[in-house]
Amino acid sequence: MSASKPTIHDVAARAGVSKSLVSLALRQSPKVSPASRAAILAAASELGYRTNAAARSLADRRSRTIGVLVLDLHNPIFAQILDGVQTEVRSHGYSVMLVTGNSDPATEQAEIDKLLEFQVEGLILISHRMSDATVREFAREVPVAIITRQDVSDSNIATVSNDDIRGAQLAVEHLVRLGHTRIAHISGGENTVSADRERGYRIAMSHAKLDAHMCVVPGAFTDLGGYNAARTALAADPAPTALFVANDIAAVGAIAAIEESGLSVPDDVSIIGYDGMALGALRSLNLTTIAQPLTEMGQLGARALFARLENPDEPSAHTAMNPELIERGTTAVAVQ
Ligand code: RIB
Repeated sequence: MSASKPTIHDVAARAGVSKSLVSLALRQSPKVSPASRAAILAAASELGYRTNAAARSLADRRSRTIGVLVLDLHNPIFAQILDGVQTEVRSHGYSVMLVTGNSDPATEQAEIDKLLEFQVEGLILISHRMSDATVREFAREVPVAIITRQDVSDSNIATVSNDDIRGAQLAVEHLVRLGHTRIAHISGGENTVSADRERGYRIAMSHAKLDAHMCVVPGAFTDLGGYNAARTALAADPAPTALFVANDIAAVGAIAAIEESGLSVPDDVSIIGYDGMALGALRSLNLTTIAQPLTEMGQLGARALFARLENPDEPSAHTAMNPELIERGTTAVAVQ
């Protein structure tokens, strides 16, 4: 057997059909009969033939690839969102090309420039830190869908997010119902999602006639951010009896800080996070949280993108999802 890679000509010869029929079959064209398709796929598999995606995309000017930027691969919720994105993208016969910029705007922009060089047909941003102007520039080249943020509006940008202000209110209202009055908030840093959750916290505290002044501790959407901010929060006198942490992964860090300081969750300090990460349901963590429908949001974002790819006149819309309180074991009645 020859050591060289099999070509489309070899597949055509083995299946006894023309090269153009092989090409149509590999692109899943409805013009190919099921019998011919089966013969061609069998020949390709026997020969170990792989399609040359780059050559194919040059030939028909379509990459059948969607570029996806994920904010932070250390936060497991992004895998849950990606599950939904992938399901939808695959159902259209497309593939995902995945990048991350590790929450750095310049790196995100450089990674997306590369995706566009690979001729991706659309972009999905699963959260990002780039400026609105930068994202709008990308949207002049290809349709864009943004998942978990709603603040960038443009005719070529669809957004899917939950109502972060309402979600934060739900978190505080839950703690108030449990009798907590010293409720501190660990923020998620300087970004719009964090700003909305802090706003919801302040609104709910004011509705409950509780003092939010001095109770917002700057944090980050990371386990370390939650850990450091919880240490700061616990040093206050009097210390809070409950923490609303801006996301679940930061809540995990906050729990570690509380336990290291000799206190226990929820007997001494109640903790509620935000997101509904799947890990939070494990018995050992049992994290009370405000859940967003993460996988569904991924699927809806990708669906909105394909709606525009298939019909450029389709208006880009915002899809608002409802946040939901999930009561588990890290919150309990306040002991003042
Ligand atoms: O970007 C970090 C956070 O924003 C995530 O945890 C999720 O809450 C998203 O909306």
